[in-house]
Amino acid sequence: SLQRTFAVIKPDAVAAGNTGNILAEIEAAGFSIAAMKKMHLTKSQAEGFYYVHKERPFFGDLVNFMTEGPIVALILEKENAIAEWRKLMGATNPEQAEEGTLRKKYGANIERNATHGSDAEETAAFETRYFFNAMETV
Ligand code: CMP
Repeated sequence: SLQRTFAVIKPDAVAAGNTGNILAEIEAAGFSIAAMKKMHLTKSQAEGFYYVHKERPFFGDLVNFMTEGPIVALILEKENAIAEWRKLMGATNPEQAEEGTLRKKYGANIERNATHGSDAEETAAFETRYFFNAMETV
């Protein structure tokens, strides 16, 4: 059924000038953009976004990466949007991502992987509300 997911174009892809390419691929894949904003996260905002990973060894590096430059935060709508967006992104590690996926094309390594997408309905709900209020959403 029609579903929404939360997505991020990460600092590596924004800095490389790939925002437009990624947005074009999002629309070509049949997603509609329900909300979008460009922002530069603070450390505490990035820590809050990724709090589920706070015990992981890569957490500090991840927060540094996510705050090194602006991101584009998005709400995407499509049938089965959560799974469909994860399919378009490809595997977390760009080296393992399928040809044609966003992370394969625009990602450099397992950390600097160009895009983020919610992994389940509960995380999509949390992440959406973390970034967008009701008046910012179509
Ligand atoms: P994302 O899908 O946004 O979720 C967590 C992020 O942590 C991931 O993409 C990567 O940017 C980063 N990361 C860095 N190292 C790892 C790792 N070993 N496993 C998973 N994610 C990692």
